Amino acid sequence: TTARITIDRDFTIGDVPRRLFGSFVEHMGRCVYTGIYEPGHPQADARGFRKDVLALVKELGPTVVRYPGGNFVSGYLWEDGVGPVEKRPRRLDGAWHTIESNAFGLHEFVEWAKEADVEIMEAVNLGTRGVEEARALVEYANHPSGTYWSDLRRTNGAADPFDIKLWCLGNELDGPWQIGGKTAQEYGRLAQETAKAMKFVDPSIELVAVGSSNRQMPTFGSWEHTVLTHAYDEVDYISMHAYYQEHDGDAASFLAEAVDMDAFIDGVIATVDAVKAAGKHTKQVDISFDEWNVWYQSGLETEDQPHQVAKGWREYPRLIEDTYNVTDAVVVGTFLHSLLRHGDRVKIANQAQLVNVIAPIRSEQGGPAWRQSIFWPFARIASHARGRILRLAIDSTQMATKRYGDVDVVDAAATWDEENGTIALFLANRSLTDASDLTVDLRGLGATTVRSAEVLTVPEGGDRLVANVVDDQDRVGLTPLRGVDVVDGAVRATLPPLSWSVVILD
Ligand code: AHR
Repeated sequence: TTARITIDRDFTIGDVPRRLFGSFVEHMGRCVYTGIYEPGHPQADARGFRKDVLALVKELGPTVVRYPGGNFVSGYLWEDGVGPVEKRPRRLDGAWHTIESNAFGLHEFVEWAKEADVEIMEAVNLGTRGVEEARALVEYANHPSGTYWSDLRRTNGAADPFDIKLWCLGNELDGPWQIGGKTAQEYGRLAQETAKAMKFVDPSIELVAVGSSNRQMPTFGSWEHTVLTHAYDEVDYISMHAYYQEHDGDAASFLAEAVDMDAFIDGVIATVDAVKAAGKHTKQVDISFDEWNVWYQSGLETEDQPHQVAKGWREYPRLIEDTYNVTDAVVVGTFLHSLLRHGDRVKIANQAQLVNVIAPIRSEQGGPAWRQSIFWPFARIASHARGRILRLAIDSTQMATKRYGDVDVVDAAATWDEENGTIALFLANRSLTDASDLTVDLRGLGATTVRSAEVLTVPEGGDRLVANVVDDQDRVGLTPLRGVDVVDGAVRATLPPLSWSVVILD
């Protein structure tokens, strides 16, 4: 197959929103406990933070991390997680049928985020709680001192405000599974009033309203419309969530799921802009795609499925610890391409989640931590997507899929860092069988040197389902992509079948 991509210094989408490379830490399964936090682990520091996990987080390079949920937040009392640890209550978490010890809470997360060098995106509980508790949390976190909540923070050991800028007004409240789920009317008004009260405490914060839990929700479209009709003036972003998986061995359709992601984003943009027009608003509400990933939600009968966990009340049980293969990594690469392609409107995105729970990083209690296959496209794009997003013209051989008809075999995104004179090309070859001969016409961009070229593909002796596991942690990774040249102002390369590549030029 062949693909020809044309890029041009004058055709750009906008600056790379660095918050696109976000992640998510929920009090769910083993993301916090035995994930980022495990006192007594040989690699834990004095605070119980796992240094081996932290090193991998830094290598992955997320810019912002959403916390503490997820479905968990809709029943969470944030006060349980502050103050002397020995006084913190043990609670039942109904969302994941788990016992929450509250040994890890807001102060611990703030400390951990500092160590990991990530911005915090804090979610408030709008399931079982409302305006007052959210308002109080902003005062606790961001007000300097001299008031009840800010002084309580100081008593609890944090003299300086946490200065959290980014907040989620609840989580997936359109979902019948959500504790305290709501109709769009109920939520729209609650979001509006909560947003007002939170911004009265700290006008510098940015707020994300809950959008649809996925594109298949019966209320998708009307939910966003109603919520924003109420809260357009008060919020800054509307959220989207999407999880994808391979169904019945149909790898071709799975490899094309970014087509669905593109269409989902376009649909939300259309709805936001319809409300903007009808309401004669001048400000623009953008998108926070604050949960996305591959997640095998159906077809697995392993012990870490939520219905298995519901058999008893346990602390940090294994929950949705999906093992990711080569195919999943290529798909994750294309999701990141889709987010970049929409970087003019999608300003925040969070891969769900960070450790163990549908995550790029895995860890074992008392044992090692390692990178899953999906770690690699995230790490490389988070590191190299800088400067401006280029608008690509792609002319690719087509590939037939059951779900999406004919799609481009080669899916791509690219950025241009004018200051450093660097171009980053991110390239997926969706074909399971054929290599693709690629030409990238660099019209006026003037790069002449291939600084690096790496590829993730099926390792020798393996197949598309090969994954990194505890006993074989580095089976899937990046290897040099050979034979990449710049000739007469064009890059030429051959992308192996089922592969994701990154080429850096300067
Ligand atoms: O990330 C796992 C769960 O998926 C989150 O808790 C929830 O928001 C979504 O349904």
